[in-house]
Amino acid sequence: MVLFHLKTFGCQMNVYDSSRIVDLLSENGMDLTEDETNADIIILNTCYIREKASAKIFSELGRLKKLYKDKNPVFAVIGCVAKAEGENIFKRAPFVSIVLSSQKYHLLPELLNKALIEKKIIKEEELQEKKKNKTKLSHLINTELSGLEKFDCLPKQKNSEKVAFVQVQEGCNKFCTYCVVPNTRGREISRDEQSILDEVENLQKVGAVEINLLGQNVDCYNGLDKDGNKSSLAKLIKKIAKFENVKRIRYTTSYPSEFSDEMIELHAIEPKLMPLVYLPIQAGSNEVLHKMNRRYTREQYLELIEKLKNANPNIQISSDFIVGFPNETEEDFQQTLDIVKRVKFIQCYAFKYSPRPNTVAQKMDGQIDLKIKSDRLKRLQVELRKSQDAFNKSCVGRVMSVLFTDVSKTDNQYIIGKNEYLQPVIVKADAKLVGTIQNVEIESASYANLKGKII
Ligand code: SAH
Ligand code: SF4
Ligand code: F3S
Repeated sequence: MVLFHLKTFGCQMNVYDSSRIVDLLSENGMDLTEDETNADIIILNTCYIREKASAKIFSELGRLKKLYKDKNPVFAVIGCVAKAEGENIFKRAPFVSIVLSSQKYHLLPELLNKALIEKKIIKEEELQEKKKNKTKLSHLINTELSGLEKFDCLPKQKNSEKVAFVQVQEGCNKFCTYCVVPNTRGREISRDEQSILDEVENLQKVGAVEINLLGQNVDCYNGLDKDGNKSSLAKLIKKIAKFENVKRIRYTTSYPSEFSDEMIELHAIEPKLMPLVYLPIQAGSNEVLHKMNRRYTREQYLELIEKLKNANPNIQISSDFIVGFPNETEEDFQQTLDIVKRVKFIQCYAFKYSPRPNTVAQKMDGQIDLKIKSDRLKRLQVELRKSQDAFNKSCVGRVMSVLFTDVSKTDNQYIIGKNEYLQPVIVKADAKLVGTIQNVEIESASYANLKGKII
């Protein structure tokens, strides 16, 4: 039995890719192990978005290598660091056997088997046996690969978490001046609608209740439908909403100036579409947005939110922010704080700008001192916390719908789930309600979660 251990860093895309890799390798006779000390194969699915994220990969490789002292497992580095650093990984960590980008992970079974034989972990004869259950691979090895061919090579999911993720699009064409994603994930390309619908149909048969559609710019989704016409995110969601077992639909990430009127209208009429819109603004100053190559102004952003809230007053907004972008002045930063006060975001991620290799912003004059970045991040977080706190408190007394997914680890009389707005909700209830959606009256709220009772 060949055991593989898989560690995932980075965004939901990587989480999705990792889950598909588990399916793929299991189909090829390999077993996932959570035990990081006892695997034949170690796979790191990596993130390159900020310096810290990518530095972590090399320290993690070093730590794992030490753990295995005299044993000699196969190390594979896949994902965005693999794409960006390529050959360099073999130089810095010569014990790594495989470096593979996110677009090519369907080649893993073939490459891993080769490495297992080289390292004498398995014998060639055993591989011949295994080849019988292999998904179609060999004809792809010598072809030029686009970002989407992997989807033809992945087996159907045999079971699904209640909350399932489905990638609808790969890559990004926006080229924000700070961002590595267009380089690590390639150009934007949408999956055919039918391939997504087949995946969703299967997922809801094998357990999924909530479907999260993933793309770096989901609003730009334009895969072909059955008749060869261009679809859209709204059209795709309408079709997904028809599956009876699918009770909730989410999509991430939205790009403000690509958000369509069709989607705004859908938010007004489709009850399965959750009323939380993840709409990264990044900065509140038009000057900074322009330098970031974000193609909207603060006024346009605020207008979009107004339209959304007019269409559906239940809609709430979450966002991402970057502070300390080159040349960001205190006045620019004040504009970001001002946006937070106006929009009252309910959950946000805020980051210090991190200069990344081969991006336009890395070469800009006016890089900001780390101390100033840290100070702005702290001040922004205080403001974000205030607005999240205020929203959590406003939930007390309301009835919210909660999809329960877990029994509490600290006390098994309690179960935990997420409401429409992805806030964790805890109630005292029988574990058999895990997997169901219940109406919960919220009785108390802290910054981290809500508590209530099922009604
Ligand atoms: N496609 C999404 C985000 C992808 S990356 C979008 O356009 O919004 C996730 C987040 O990481 C971004 O929203 C941004 O806030 C942050 N990020 C990306 N590059 C960064 C960098 N160089 N430094 C700091 N934060 C960065
Ligand atoms: Fe990066 Fe911008 Fe594309 Fe988002 S839209 S992935 S931030 S380049
Ligand atoms: Fe990181 Fe790649 Fe996602 S760089 S954020 S794992 S697309």
